[in-house]
Amino acid sequence: MSTQEKIAKLAKLSQRIEQGGGPAAIEKQHLLGKQTARERIIQLLDEDSFTELDKFVVHHCTNFDMADKEAPGEGVVTGYGTINGRLAFVYAQDFTVLGGSLGEMHAAKICKVMDMAVKMGAPIIGMNDSGGARIQEAINALSGYGKIFYANTMASGVIPQISVIMGPCAGGAVYSPALTDFVFMVDKTSKMFITGPQVIKAVTGEEVSAEELGGAMTHNATSGVAHFAATDEGECIRQIRQLLSYLPSNNLEEAPKASAMDDIMRMDEGLNQVIPDNPNAAYDMNTVIRHIVDEGEFFEVQPYYARNIITGYARLGGQTVGIIANQPKVMAGCLDINASDKSARFIRFCDAFNIPLLSIVDVPGFLPGTHQEFGGIIRHGAKMLYAYSEATVPKITLVTRKAYGGAYLAMCSKDLGADQVIAWPTAEIAVMGAEGAANIIFRKEIESAESPETARQDRIEQYKAIFATPYVAAENGLADMVIEPRETRPRLISALEMLSTKREKRPAKKHGNIPL
Ligand code: HXC
Repeated sequence: MSTQEKIAKLAKLSQRIEQGGGPAAIEKQHLLGKQTARERIIQLLDEDSFTELDKFVVHHCTNFDMADKEAPGEGVVTGYGTINGRLAFVYAQDFTVLGGSLGEMHAAKICKVMDMAVKMGAPIIGMNDSGGARIQEAINALSGYGKIFYANTMASGVIPQISVIMGPCAGGAVYSPALTDFVFMVDKTSKMFITGPQVIKAVTGEEVSAEELGGAMTHNATSGVAHFAATDEGECIRQIRQLLSYLPSNNLEEAPKASAMDDIMRMDEGLNQVIPDNPNAAYDMNTVIRHIVDEGEFFEVQPYYARNIITGYARLGGQTVGIIANQPKVMAGCLDINASDKSARFIRFCDAFNIPLLSIVDVPGFLPGTHQEFGGIIRHGAKMLYAYSEATVPKITLVTRKAYGGAYLAMCSKDLGADQVIAWPTAEIAVMGAEGAANIIFRKEIESAESPETARQDRIEQYKAIFATPYVAAENGLADMVIEPRETRPRLISALEMLSTKREKRPAKKHGNIPL
């Protein structure tokens, strides 16, 4: 064969592999509103930046008729490129090839790019669209999954790991996404479940559609398995690129610093009007966040789940911060099981990746009730205490209104290592609400009074005057400063700058034992 013939053969081979499962399968994929693996990668990465690896890998299976079955690219496209100019590794399962099913060599391709991502200190983005373990490959397919789970665990806390569900992801296959940091889902086309509707019907008799069982909104709003939902693949990819813009590429890097367009000294008169006079009236914590951060831009993580707490990324003076904020508009901002899980995981990600934490507090307490107690709110709430205490990144706590009891501690009080606690004059930092407190400590006096109701109100007012303020905390050094709300942005930016050289060591240990 001449050189020219060899070059032509390469082009032909490449072209065939790039066709994946062929035009009919590609058309079926498009008709379902799905792109092909290659189209997805091209859209995700910066223009012309994709370099494909392992294009020519083949399977080694001979069971059933597999010896004669071609699987172009082994049903998964892998490689690297850049996102917003920074290196990223990717893999995308190709549903047009044997349903994107995962065999030994398909898994080996994924593990190879994961290992490279760890070595190079760059994020990995995995796009899932697969019928699961390639049934013909039996235990070798399972072994492939096991290797991916192991690699996910080794990479955890070293590089950001992102899973994108763009088709089926069922059975044990769901555990790779579950081990990664962020799960993105696309409405209508993505599904995740351990056992599908038919199996559930056979075993429990329950009837449920695939969408209800494992669709994007189920995992975004109900189970908390997913972090983002998009209406289509284009929106999903834009969300991934936006998320990555806030994150460092690995645990040894600082988060990228954007040049701040928004004045770092900007006072915001609107913030002086946010807190209602009635302490029980709700307000939207999102408004507070947007008034404070650069250009009002806030990228919320898990916006549909445990909406009583808000988590997400923003910038202050160009510096990425992870924000955890109570939402008085939902369940009065009480902490519950789901809010604890959501925020503890978010805090740990930020700490692992050098992202300073800003906690914004307006919390009346933990949600009371048997449902919460039986569900283990003690164990789940402890995750927040643990996550905040172990975090060594700069920790700033802003108290806007209520900060009561154990929930005050759980929202990163001074004692859990907050480097700066900043309170508004509307802050009420106390062991509990005035009504509850007066009813307990003055119960006998109130019951025996001539007019119990008047006595109760007097005592409540007295308690409020003394304790429902930021000043007891400030007098004890538990709040570093009390500021006018309008000053919040410059104060926070100044605190972040002051804390930028923070160094804090923890005792040497193999690892801690976070309550799970
Ligand atoms: C081998 C598979 C496959 C699989 C799909 N295909 N899943 N081949 N192993 N797991 C093949 C089909 O045979 C078909 O090949 C092609 O992919 C497209 O599949 P269709 O069924 O035609 O597509 P569709 O109608 O869109 O249905 C998609 C599907 C369905 C819902 C995903 O294919 C399905 O139910 N697949 C099996 C899912 C499953 O039970 N997986 C569990 C495996 S065990 P042809 O040649 O006809 O085009 C597991 C455990 C993992 O995953 C544990 C890890 C710890």
